[in-house]
Amino acid sequence: MAIEWNETYSVGVELFDEHHKQLFVLLHKLELCNENSQENDDLINKTLKELMEYTHYHFSEEEKALERYNYNDLERQKKGHAYFVSQIEDYHSKYLGGSKPQLTDVVNFLNEWLLQHILDSDFRYTQLLKDKIIN
Ligand SMILES: [Fe+2]
Repeated sequence: MAIEWNETYSVGVELFDEHHKQLFVLLHKLELCNENSQENDDLINKTLKELMEYTHYHFSEEEKALERYNYNDLERQKKGHAYFVSQIEDYHSKYLGGSKPQLTDVVNFLNEWLLQHILDSDFRYTQLLKDKIIN
């Protein structure tokens, strides 16, 4: 089931809230792909690629900001990011290689991870970044 961003997910940094919204939009787009035709396989591959690229972008922007303000838990944050990226890459290569996991399982996993990323990992930096200018 697609999750929509709401105010309770705000990390106190407008830019990163916008990124998170976009990640939910991309996950929803992935969820809407129907698995039953070749044409949609292409759409799934394309959407996973888009999700991967946007995730890379979001994580590197977050890491840059956290580095700039000497976040003390940066290594943990980076590890979490690397894990998520590796999971999407793994799903993507499975789709490309023809051994397709159930799309609902992929979407559920990514949704759950993203929520946990925001509500657990990202909430830890809210205090540090909330009054800073991040752009
Ligand atoms: Fe984030």
